Amino acid sequence: MKIAIMGAMPEEIEPLLSRVENVRETKYAANTFYEATFEGKEVVIAYSKIGKVFAAITATILIEKFGCDRLLFSGVAGAIDPDLNIGDLVIADGLCQHDLDITAFGHPFGYVPEGEVCISTDPYMRELAKKVADQKGLPLKEGIIATGDQFIANEERKSWISKMFDAHALEMEGASVAVVCNALDVPCFILRAISDSADMDAGFDFDTFLQSSAKVSADFILEMVAQIEH
Ligand code: ADE
Repeated sequence: MKIAIMGAMPEEIEPLLSRVENVRETKYAANTFYEATFEGKEVVIAYSKIGKVFAAITATILIEKFGCDRLLFSGVAGAIDPDLNIGDLVIADGLCQHDLDITAFGHPFGYVPEGEVCISTDPYMRELAKKVADQKGLPLKEGIIATGDQFIANEERKSWISKMFDAHALEMEGASVAVVCNALDVPCFILRAISDSADMDAGFDFDTFLQSSAKVSADFILEMVAQIEH
């Protein structure tokens, strides 16, 4: 078993790198990949840079070059569900691309031929996440996460995404990582801790809570890695 752990930004992987052992760095494709061990398990950690394209490149390299056979994403998200507060954890049961639009040809938002509007994630890792949340006494929401190459700081756009995709949270990488994992038949898990509410204060809140929420997510992911069996 070789486990990929991905984030989008340095702040999302720093709390992982500070806890793993035997770290070996490889520079590849204008990025840095960290092979390491955690609780006797082999892991490869990288941050992609922000957005769907960079995330897809990094996920592909983690799988194809480093031989990772499962992928866990750790990071932050904007809340759509009003029950989600700063620092709360949300896992994706499915992910969609809210900015994918060929509706001019009669297709639904988020759909292109031979693709799917909503890509589902690995059921075993979702169940493991629920077990870890129970053990830690942490609330954990499960729902749709919407991804797009836009930082959302606008109630109108947020409520459109909410209605169109029934999404609980939004971010800028998850669905592209899920598409890669789906195509390459690698189990995928996407965890996010809330950094903002995708409203007019989102820019300020994101800057304020990025580090603390990223750590909440990273610590949870490492507990899952420790307990992962297959
Ligand atoms: N990630 C965290 N907050 C976000 C937001 N408001 N929009 C897009 N991605 C985010």
